[in-house]
Amino acid sequence: MSFDLSVFSNKNIILAVTGGIAAYKSAILVRRLKDYGFNVRVVMTKGAQAFITPLTFQALSGNPVHTELLDPEAEAGMGHIELARWADLILVAPASCDTIAKFAAGLADDLLSTLYLATKAPVWVAPAMNQQMWAAKPTQRNLNTLVEDGVHVIMPEAGSQACGDVGLGRMPEPEDLAEQVKNYFHQAQRAIAEKFGLLAGKRVVITAGPTREAIDPVRYISNHSTGKMGFAIAAACYSAGAKVTLLAGPVSLDTPNAVRRINVSSAIKMLDESMHQLEEGCDVFIATAAVADYRVAEVSEHKIKKAGDELNVSLVKNPDIVATIAQQSKRPFMVGFAAETRNVEEYAAGKLVAKKLDMIACNDVSRADIGFASDQNAMTVFFAEQYQMEKRDLEKASKQEIAQQLVEAIHDALHHEIEPI
Ligand code: C5P
Repeated sequence: MSFDLSVFSNKNIILAVTGGIAAYKSAILVRRLKDYGFNVRVVMTKGAQAFITPLTFQALSGNPVHTELLDPEAEAGMGHIELARWADLILVAPASCDTIAKFAAGLADDLLSTLYLATKAPVWVAPAMNQQMWAAKPTQRNLNTLVEDGVHVIMPEAGSQACGDVGLGRMPEPEDLAEQVKNYFHQAQRAIAEKFGLLAGKRVVITAGPTREAIDPVRYISNHSTGKMGFAIAAACYSAGAKVTLLAGPVSLDTPNAVRRINVSSAIKMLDESMHQLEEGCDVFIATAAVADYRVAEVSEHKIKKAGDELNVSLVKNPDIVATIAQQSKRPFMVGFAAETRNVEEYAAGKLVAKKLDMIACNDVSRADIGFASDQNAMTVFFAEQYQMEKRDLEKASKQEIAQQLVEAIHDALHHEIEPI
């Protein structure tokens, strides 16, 4: 399964490597954690550096490697207290007897032992050592202390060891460790969703309604969009715990509770405001607006007077708002809409790809019972390639219920819980 790297791109892992032959596996562990999208910074003890060089970890993590507690240069880059706060999880793998003993005793005589005391983040240790050292009473006593202190101990595996012994003490494979880290964050996200809503803490920006393209100071080109779907989605996102900004074209609808509404009129203004919102921070961008495809090339400064039997107005193409946002380097999760009258699913899937969206919801507006001014809607949702181009049918329901189902679809895509139907 391919993973959307953005899922964990806001999660920071400190991988602490201590002295032991299993340190070579930690190099692969960095790769696997990066594959899941985590930000990884590596801390190495002196012992670790006897087995593998900091340069290896620097190249793999894409970050400078932290080795010294009292190195002025490193402290200027990211001091140890800052590093301790940066971490969402500290994973010590391999964890040597010595490090485990230091943690248990509360020593702070090197960078890693100091970080352990200075962090609020969960700490995991993956002990790796000779089977006799693992079984030794002081080691077991220290591990019990760590467990009592809230450290998660990943049990070593049994097998043949580098020293020739056979027994408990092998570090689990890097793939297993990376998966355990991923599962931990997935579970944490699920718990947050259950407690605070499916989009808890997410910043959502929604475009809604038509745009109005001026011809002269009193006339304009527009369309019949009422904005109902976008407004219903704004309300559903707020109920799901999101912070919502609604960029509304000219519509006569009340602003949903606790939603920040910014009124815009033309497509250009809607794009400007969308870019501004992106700069302010946006996790999910939902484009429901029926943006006018064209605008008047030269808006007349004064009211155009009646003259002759024909009037030609030259139009130029408007920018595609959702496609423009999707092209930005730090882009949010992108949701588009497609209202079609024929070949609905084919055209929608084409737009999903052409506009580089993550998800598109489409409906058949030739049906009188759903769409535009109706209070009911029925939709099909397509997810992008990184979600296996999965498809989900949303049954005919009120626009409020459809909005709720869309929120669920966005949540599921963000957390990779799209199941084939
Ligand atoms: O190409 P079409 O207008 O059918 O695409 C529909 C999707 O693209 C909708 O999500 C709509 O809000 C968005 N769109 C846009 N800017 C445009 C045209 C469409 O954001 N200029």
